[in-house]
Amino acid sequence: MFRTLRPLLFRINPESAHRLTIRSLAAWQAVGCPGAPSAPKRSPVMVAGIEFAHPVCLAAGFDKDAEAIDACHALGFAGIEVGTLTPRPQMGNPKPRLFRLAEDRGVINRMGFNNGGIDAALPRVAGTKRRGVIGINVGANKDSGDRIADYAIGVAKAAPLADHVTINVSSPNTPNLRDLQDPAMLADLLAACDGARMIGGRRVPLFLKIAPDLDAKALEPIVRTVIDGGIDALIVSNTTISRPELRSRDRGQAGGLSGKPLQLLAREKLGEVVAIASGAIPLISAGGIDNADEARRRLDMGASLVQLYSALVFEGPGLARRIANGL
Ligand SMILES: Cc1cc2nc3c(=O)[nH]c(=O)nc-3n(C[C@H](O)[C@H](O)[C@H](O)COP(=O)(O)O)c2cc1C
Repeated sequence: MFRTLRPLLFRINPESAHRLTIRSLAAWQAVGCPGAPSAPKRSPVMVAGIEFAHPVCLAAGFDKDAEAIDACHALGFAGIEVGTLTPRPQMGNPKPRLFRLAEDRGVINRMGFNNGGIDAALPRVAGTKRRGVIGINVGANKDSGDRIADYAIGVAKAAPLADHVTINVSSPNTPNLRDLQDPAMLADLLAACDGARMIGGRRVPLFLKIAPDLDAKALEPIVRTVIDGGIDALIVSNTTISRPELRSRDRGQAGGLSGKPLQLLAREKLGEVVAIASGAIPLISAGGIDNADEARRRLDMGASLVQLYSALVFEGPGLARRIANGL
């Protein structure tokens, strides 16, 4: 069915196609996700004390405003990260800001944390059926005078409802956000988030998501800071600002590149982080995962879970289940 619909969806501009997808999923969810195929059968995976039904999860940015959590679980994802959510709503960058690189099976985005704000999203999280893991990914407003405080607000607000909260310091589309990966700044950020994560005696697991545009030398102190800062899992990685050889018309657009063209880099960065961390922290691999072999490869390299987003654009909504069943 997706193969038939894909040429039509590809005629619509990518952001409208994405809105249409989220609206359709939300409508399907509102009537209880009829016709959802049975959940993939695999043994569960424990990461940071959280049970995932299998290792295949949806990466942040697909359901930024928590509109279709139940539907995403019904598609077969063991976990979904909503967000990135910021303390105050924000428009994001001017459109167009999302580009499909069909010939390369990639995506370039410079969305800039467009979202309705964490206060608007949380009631939707509270109203879900929780048929899988729910992570809430938090970030800072672009015009914030105190970005670290924004993260602490996000963690404190998300903690009562989230299975885990992800600190996203790796989006390339908010100017200077990635500076928070600098070990000294990162230590301050993690201390502030650690202070915000306790809720009614429960310490919500904190995940951190890093960029793939860090060389092994820069990664070493970051990974050490993350481990020392009490982070429970590390997501490797976000989109890249680097540009391998690309063929698609929109290859020159500014923003973060994801999907197939990110695959090799994401693998390489996972390998480097595995070597540095040597088992001290669970790792989650993201970047260009588009089939069961690639997912298997990341798990064999040392990741505990995988996350994907861009491949959904090209492979359709059955992908999570196909990968989970194919592992
Ligand atoms: C359109 C788009 C929006 C994204 N928005 C976010 C976001 O808000 N927060 C975040 O942490 N990652 C965001 N990402 C990054 C993805 O979560 C993921 O880390 C990255 O795309 C690599 O995985 P993939 O190659 O499977 O897409 C976004 C990716 C895309 C394509």
